[in-house]
Amino acid sequence: MSKNIVVIGGSTGIGKAIVEKAAQNAENNIFAFSRQKELMSKNFKSLNNVSVHHLDLEHFSGPKFVTDIEKLGPIDILINNAGFLIKKEFDKLSHEDFVRSYQINAIGIMQVVQAVLPAMNQRGSHIVNISSMGGFQGSMKFPGLAAYSTSKAALCSFTELFAEEYKDSNIKMNCLCLGAVQTEMLEAAFPGFEAPHQPEQIAEYIYDFSCKQGDFLNGKIIPVSLSTP
Ligand SMILES: NC(=O)c1ccc[n+]([C@@H]2O[C@H](COP(=O)([O-])OP(=O)(O)OC[C@H]3O[C@@H](n4cnc5c(N)ncnc54)[C@H](OP(=O)(O)O)[C@@H]3O)[C@@H](O)[C@H]2O)c1
Repeated sequence: MSKNIVVIGGSTGIGKAIVEKAAQNAENNIFAFSRQKELMSKNFKSLNNVSVHHLDLEHFSGPKFVTDIEKLGPIDILINNAGFLIKKEFDKLSHEDFVRSYQINAIGIMQVVQAVLPAMNQRGSHIVNISSMGGFQGSMKFPGLAAYSTSKAALCSFTELFAEEYKDSNIKMNCLCLGAVQTEMLEAAFPGFEAPHQPEQIAEYIYDFSCKQGDFLNGKIIPVSLSTP
C-alpha cells in the first residue's frame, strides 16, 4: 500500500538508508528533510519517489516548515531520525553544547511534531522517534555523553507524554533506542569501534517497524540493541 513518509535527518547514515529503503516501494512518496539539501539531491537523484527539503532543527522556522509540509498531503509515517552527538568531559560541556544538543535532539523534534500534526493522516498514522540506548534507563552509559544522552532521554519521555495526550486520536508514537550502528557519528565518537550493524540493516528494521507497529504499539520506548544491560 502506498504511504507518504517524512524522514527528518535523511541526508546521511541511518536516515539516508531509511530513505533508500522506503523508496524501494515505488508506490511510496518519501520526503527527506535535513540541512544538506544539495547532498540529498545528489544522493537521491535516481529515486523518482523522493523529494528533498531544507530543515535546520537548530534554527527551527515553524512557518517555513509548515509551508513545506502542507504541500505533501496526508502523512502516514513521520520518522524523527535527526540527531546531534557531542562527546566531551562533563565539566567541559558549555551552555551552547547543552542548548544545541537539546534543541536538535529534543526541542526541535517536538517542534516538528507540533508543525506536522495537522498534516498527519487522521485516519491512522505513526510517528517514530529515533533515540539511543544511551537515553534508555538502566542501559550501559559512556563518559562524555551527558549532553547527548540526556537529550535523547528527553525524546523518550516525550514519546510517553505525546501518546498519553493523543491516545484518543489515530496518531500513534513510539521510540526506538538504537545501539551502535556503523555511521560517521559513531566513528567520530568512538574511533575504531566496530558496531554490530550497518545503517542499511537498521534502516530496514526502522522502516518495517514504522509501517507495521503503529497498529499495535503506542508510547513505547524500545531498546534495539544486542548488548546487555
Ligand atoms: N550510529 C549510532 O551508533 C547511533 C546509535 C544510537 C542512536 N543513533 C541515532 O540515530 C540517528 C541517526 O544517526 P547517524 O548515526 O545516522 O548519524 P549521522 O549520519 O550524523 O546523521 C544525523 C542526521 O541528523 C541530521 N541533523 C543533524 N543536525 C541537524 C539539524 N540541525 N537540523 C536538521 N537535521 C540535522 C543530519 O543531517 P544534516 O547534517 O544534513 O542536517 C543527518 O541526516 C540520530 O538520531 C542518532 O542519535 C545513532
